[in-house]
Amino acid sequence: QELQLNLEQIEKGGYDHFMLKEIYEQPSAILDTFRGRLLSNEAIIKMAGVEDNMKKFLAADRIIIVACGTSWHAGLVAEYIFEDLARIPVEVEYASEFRYRNPVITEKDIVIAISQSGETADTLAAIKLAKSKGAFVFGVCNVVGSTIARETDAGAYTHAGPEIGVASTKAFTTQITVLTLIALRLARAKGTMSSSEFRQHLIELETIPSKVEEALKSDAYVQTVAEIYKDSKNCLYLGRGYNFPVALEGALKLKEISYIHAEGYPAAEMKHGPIALIDEQMPVFVIATKMGHYEKVVSNIQEIKSRKGKIIGIVTKGDKSVKELADHVIEVPETLECLTPLLTTIPLQLLSYHIAVMLDKNVDQPRNLAKSVTVE
Ligand code: G6P
Repeated sequence: QELQLNLEQIEKGGYDHFMLKEIYEQPSAILDTFRGRLLSNEAIIKMAGVEDNMKKFLAADRIIIVACGTSWHAGLVAEYIFEDLARIPVEVEYASEFRYRNPVITEKDIVIAISQSGETADTLAAIKLAKSKGAFVFGVCNVVGSTIARETDAGAYTHAGPEIGVASTKAFTTQITVLTLIALRLARAKGTMSSSEFRQHLIELETIPSKVEEALKSDAYVQTVAEIYKDSKNCLYLGRGYNFPVALEGALKLKEISYIHAEGYPAAEMKHGPIALIDEQMPVFVIATKMGHYEKVVSNIQEIKSRKGKIIGIVTKGDKSVKELADHVIEVPETLECLTPLLTTIPLQLLSYHIAVMLDKNVDQPRNLAKSVTVE
């Protein structure tokens, strides 16, 4: 028993929980995802699974992404990236819905299945269905040799290393990283991006690990924010564009480990429902980075303020407008709009972690949840 405990301590590498260790591993996990693939000096992206199937990718009418949970959120971020950079239409589906919906799939479709564990039953079933209709299926998995990695026609591993905490953290950011690399590679091949734009994206992508490192420095401040809002009964998370899926993911993280009810919404949808919930008790976490509909998000913040909601802004370093309106702001470094999810996610992960610890919840093994759901 004692030996077992000591072993676990060693595995946690000095952190109190696997989740915190994995949050802090993100700079190096993202670097590992780049390794051998992102060659910014030569201005190339090398990914065997994409290269070997380039013809299929270029001939595809659309990409359908299937996944569950946090992986589905990474798929939503990828939808924005693929459409924006590579101009390929993308649909993102919950694997559990897709598999029972008699979906229209043809041989000209590419299905990308995203799964940390590579064992999720619904995602596996969606893959089998897509294959039976003749689609080319590409896997984005973390666990090497997992069932989904073996069942797909080709794929790219995230190389995040083992993720033990049930709430997914480094798997999410490395999934986004791999999908960004694929989108950039396809954008170059399709000519939807100029060579200078492409190069600029590679150079910026390469700075992400150190920017994640910088974002992690907000930890102490995030902890004070967590202390203030830990007893909330409901929380709202808002974001637009690339950061709408981050709002969903932020809300999911809080639900999963602290059992506080939280909802993620596209900021502009607030007026169609959630705005009715806002009162002085309601913390609203708003992702309002300088890039991407900034002014519009600021006016959403004004609407929250006039209803006395508590505003916590996730903003770009040096921000002024949100600071004037919000109760708290948490800064992240500036980057290209399409890369902001890799940074804005970090404080939201830390926030849910600290709230769960303060509420004395089982952070690494939350009730009713499993790391990998191998049954329907
Ligand atoms: C479970 C886990 C989540 C995960 C989801 C999909 O619900 O608790 O953290 O996002 O499954 O898992 P996968 O391994 O397919 O990414």
